[in-house]
Amino acid sequence: MSKILIAYSTVDGQTRKISHQLASEIKGEVEVKKFEEIDSLDDYGKVIIGSSIRYGKFPKKLFRFVEKNKTSLEEKQADFFGVNLIARNPEKCLVENNVYVRKFVEKTSWKPNEVVIFAGALNYTTYNLFDKKMIQLIMKITEGPTDASVDLEFTNWEDVSSYADKVNSEAK
Ligand SMILES: Cc1cc2nc3c(=O)[nH]c(=O)nc-3n(C[C@H](O)[C@H](O)[C@H](O)COP(=O)(O)O)c2cc1C
Repeated sequence: MSKILIAYSTVDGQTRKISHQLASEIKGEVEVKKFEEIDSLDDYGKVIIGSSIRYGKFPKKLFRFVEKNKTSLEEKQADFFGVNLIARNPEKCLVENNVYVRKFVEKTSWKPNEVVIFAGALNYTTYNLFDKKMIQLIMKITEGPTDASVDLEFTNWEDVSSYADKVNSEAK
């Protein structure tokens, strides 16, 4: 079986946590690396890319990575997973209902083989004051939790396992 790469970017660690969980559930040899640690995709038969949303945007390093490796990503039928908090509502785990991921897929010239969305985490206690206030405001508007003394993880680990199963069933 060919080697699998999970390439990710993270700010608070949730996309890294999801990437490592996937790696533990995907059969065969799986490497987990940040975008900036990757020079070439030549060693891998399959690539999975994960990235999180901050203030409505995926990071520039995601776009740079995709642009640089577009041909290989298409050859290797790479998948994409997006992590964000609106996906705490299961309806927003569908690409057509998740504005960030839908726009990403529309904007990039790369067409991922599979696109999945996982809910992220709310780490109020680690945010700086500005982010804490902003996130509280967004949560108030979207009827989410506003108690800044409590951290919450919304990631549905069963969804993560289901995606890992899918990767395993398609493995060459
Ligand atoms: C400053 C900040 C801005 C965020 N902006 C959004 C947003 O616009 N929409 C959203 O759904 N989630 C937003 N999130 C939630 C993150 O996507 C979520 O916390 C995710 O788990 C972060 O993943 P990471 O730790 O891998 O970076 C934001 C989080 C922070 C801290």
